[in-house]
Amino acid sequence: MRNSPIGIFDSGIGGTSIFKEIHELLPNENCIYLADSKNAPYGNRSEDEIVQLSIKNTEFLIKQGCKIIVVACNTATTNAIVYLRKNYDIPFIGIEPAIKPAALNTKTKVVGILATKGTLSSQLFHNTIDLYSKDIKIIEQVGEGIVPLIETGQLDSEVMQLYLKTYLEPMLKQDIDYLVLGCTHYPYLIPMLTKMLPEHVRIIDSGRAVAKQTQAVLTALDVLNDSIENPNIQLFSNGDITVLNSILDYKFNVSYLDF
Ligand code: DGL
Repeated sequence: MRNSPIGIFDSGIGGTSIFKEIHELLPNENCIYLADSKNAPYGNRSEDEIVQLSIKNTEFLIKQGCKIIVVACNTATTNAIVYLRKNYDIPFIGIEPAIKPAALNTKTKVVGILATKGTLSSQLFHNTIDLYSKDIKIIEQVGEGIVPLIETGQLDSEVMQLYLKTYLEPMLKQDIDYLVLGCTHYPYLIPMLTKMLPEHVRIIDSGRAVAKQTQAVLTALDVLNDSIENPNIQLFSNGDITVLNSILDYKFNVSYLDF
């Protein structure tokens, strides 16, 4: 069990931002990453479709002998993790927008959140908002169009800049001092966002927290990999592997798989 891989999936290449955090924190662990790029974006799909796609990804990772599954997608977590936990025996780690630290630390009492439509409309997200938005204002913004641009390698494009400008402007007008990135594709926008935002606006995402939670659960279950051999890292995509390779700086073993 200790040598079994950590399975990680996302609607596409964005969850690699989580995979990188996990690999950095747990360098001994074998990992299998699944990018369902053929079906991205999940964010505009119905809850039922997101659940069905999450089942397909989960069953693939279970077949590969994974010891834990990290749902490296806010949209899949907020729409499908309750179903997955109820129906599969394997432990799941999910990712949700980091509203809590932003709500606890904001000085202006205004927090912006950028996420997919699927995440912002989910019950799980609304439960979190209800918990933390008592005396603060939360400005929700759908990042329409961002995921397809990242999936097609147009990270630094002018269109991307235009989208972000449009989405940030109303938030800045209302004086946000925290911007929560509620989609695992968005950490790749941090260099561009940092240039566009005033210095006092802090950007937060949940990547590190997810890696720590994975470590905590593996420790509690006593299945951390203590081998000192090089880990086996495999990444699969049913989309264009060139973009996945380039976002990973060609450092890992990426294969095309029709799943
Ligand atoms: N990375 C997914 C997330 O965290 C992207 C969603 C999508 O495919 O629309 O929500």
